[in-house]
Amino acid sequence: MKALVLAGGSGSRLRPITHTSAKQLVPVANKPVLFYGLEAIRDAGIREVGIVVGDTAAEIQDAVGDGSRFGLQVTYLPQDAPRGLAHAVLIAREYLGDDDFVMYLGDNFVVGGIDGIVRRFRQERPDAQIMLTRVSDPRAFGVAELDGDGRVVGLEEKPEHPKSDLALVGVYIFGPRVHDAVARLKPSWRDELEITDAIQGLIDTGGRVESTVISGYWKDTGNVTDMLEVNRLVLEDVEPSVAGAVDASSELIGRVVVEAGATVAGSRIVGPVIVGAGTVVRDSYLGPFTSIGRDCRVIDSEIEYSIVLRGASIDGVGRIEASLIGREAEVTPAPNVPRAHRLVLGDHSKVQIRQ
Ligand code: DAU
Repeated sequence: MKALVLAGGSGSRLRPITHTSAKQLVPVANKPVLFYGLEAIRDAGIREVGIVVGDTAAEIQDAVGDGSRFGLQVTYLPQDAPRGLAHAVLIAREYLGDDDFVMYLGDNFVVGGIDGIVRRFRQERPDAQIMLTRVSDPRAFGVAELDGDGRVVGLEEKPEHPKSDLALVGVYIFGPRVHDAVARLKPSWRDELEITDAIQGLIDTGGRVESTVISGYWKDTGNVTDMLEVNRLVLEDVEPSVAGAVDASSELIGRVVVEAGATVAGSRIVGPVIVGAGTVVRDSYLGPFTSIGRDCRVIDSEIEYSIVLRGASIDGVGRIEASLIGREAEVTPAPNVPRAHRLVLGDHSKVQIRQ
């Protein structure tokens, strides 16, 4: 069995922190979301992985390399434009041969990995195995309709009037019959070759499509509340370790990771918290469920239940909660006169100011 990981896309579908960079590299507990997917693939016993890349190919290749550090053999498959998930299968036809494969969307996060569904596929050998999860607004997803026995009878991509609340999770397992269904596809209303249509094609031609309903699923939809929540979930299981320097006047409580090259001085950290490599935390408080990226500065401030990305600086600003702070962002006090907030905010930013 091989894996096909989709890490293309143009970056034009704006998310709060992926205006210019690959959304598959959004960090969860200081690790790109794509890496969790690659580890899940490896943990399911798969070694050969084709990664579909688009405009952000250089960034993805920089981050993943040849895959050896994940225990994987990675082959990059360039896609000229984001022409749809099934188009990615089409361009990977030669790489995949007639092997079974897991298709994994690189911006999806499945809590608990994929070992279970891979095992089930190997036992039952359907033509396709899909994962579903209940969501409050299915209109942003592919949506499945099941019959009384739980068999998939229909699939629709981003329907205006969803027939159920069961959304397609971005992890699928296919046998070689999917290639015939993909070859028959015509572009959809959004001008993409839809994998949802290919699976519907399998059903319509008598193929067997099995489904598993899971909980514990996240994807980067641009929703900061969801992102903070998945960060919390992952941090809850983090193993405490201190490789950086923590001075005698600091106090670390609970699950705290201080990466190599980080320094903590005169501060109190209540885990679970990760402090990234090269980051300086001085005279500050870091509260539960906070991830501070690498090379940040947190000075004379308090941060709780937040994500701070690489290179950001927070200095002398009191307490910050439930926030997402982007790369190289600076948060500092304003001068006393005039009494005004001074903001330089990127597109689609959101700021909540206490009066
Ligand atoms: O995440 C689950 C959803 O993923 C499913 O519920 C939908 O049925 C499925 O169509 C897909 O919907 P999205 O429209 O949200 O997919 P998105 O365009 O965000 O692409 C998913 C990943 O695949 C992302 O990492 C980018 C990559 N991609 C996407 C396209 C369209 C490619 O590599 N090539 C492409 O052509």
